[in-house]
Amino acid sequence: MSLTILAIESSCDDTGAAVVRDGLLLSNITASQDVHKRYGGVVPELASRAHQQHIVPVADTALKEAGVQPEELSAIAVTLGPGLMGSLLVGVSFAKGMALSLGIPLVEVNHLQGHVLAHFVRTPNDTRPTPSYPFLCLLVSGGNSQIIRVEAPDKMDILGQTIDDAAGEALDKCAKIMGLGYPGGPIIDRLARQGNPNAFSFAKPAIKGLDYSFSGLKTSFLYFLRDQLKEDADFITKRQADLAASFERTVVEILMQKLDRAVRETGIRQVALSGGVSANTALRAAFLDRQDHKGWTVFIPPFAYTTDNAAMIAQAGYYKALAHDFCPLDKPAYARTII
Ligand code: KG4
Repeated sequence: MSLTILAIESSCDDTGAAVVRDGLLLSNITASQDVHKRYGGVVPELASRAHQQHIVPVADTALKEAGVQPEELSAIAVTLGPGLMGSLLVGVSFAKGMALSLGIPLVEVNHLQGHVLAHFVRTPNDTRPTPSYPFLCLLVSGGNSQIIRVEAPDKMDILGQTIDDAAGEALDKCAKIMGLGYPGGPIIDRLARQGNPNAFSFAKPAIKGLDYSFSGLKTSFLYFLRDQLKEDADFITKRQADLAASFERTVVEILMQKLDRAVRETGIRQVALSGGVSANTALRAAFLDRQDHKGWTVFIPPFAYTTDNAAMIAQAGYYKALAHDFCPLDKPAYARTII
């Protein structure tokens, strides 16, 4: 019997809906929220209000684009957490309401597991290879930096993670300190392409094991600029591209040093990249370099599945629905968790 799932994602500032049938993606709709740009970061209350405006048209469009009637759905999958509580509640309430009214089961998805399983999202004509288990996944976003050992869709172990800021957060803060826009990651990426990555050096953390830390780098950058601005008030404007390139290089080196070590320690050479920061040009290049020179097989998903999206939630939900792993309708959303 065919398994058709509508998935809903609303954990942060993107409202997403996607339809997957028997493991193949039929539609994937995302409504982003420009309202946060002028505040330099996501404003939770504005995010949940925007989700309320977007959720019905986004879900409706996903169903129409897939050519699926609500009555054909087998289950509703939804991101139950982690994320911003006000944002999650909109998607979770919508998904529960729909499951209840259609008399079909609800499937809960952990947002971070969704990011990892983005590597298995396939459209009907898509022949990209998928990772085989076990593989390592570097999950780097605005809220997370983790190295995950993936044994199966429902078995993931975190080998290391940030003890303070996430990599994306560090890039966003670097852009903010330089007076650039939000989100800063793509702006730093663009500027860095015109700069010298070795122009400046910033402090790198000495953290044990496979954990990360990015708060020291941010402070080092801030103090460096403070000192330079005393000498030359136009320093940032004059050296913007070099600053972006040097900061980006440091972030990528920090990420890759620990990942190299994880590959050495586990002996697993299939390595996947996930999360919003995986759009970064230098990080992608570092992955491809490992593939060319260290014998890794790397998996980098298309841009549409790297930032927050419902396609990855649909894929994760599909695996759970196959296993009849359903969720009671009274299970609440959660803001924080580990995989
Ligand atoms: O996974 P994601 O969409 O969601 C959250 O974690 O909220 O990741 C967003 C993060 C932001 O920090 C953003 O600056 C970063 O991904 N990002 C990038 C690039 N595109 C997005 N960072 C570096 N280079 C990029 N091209």
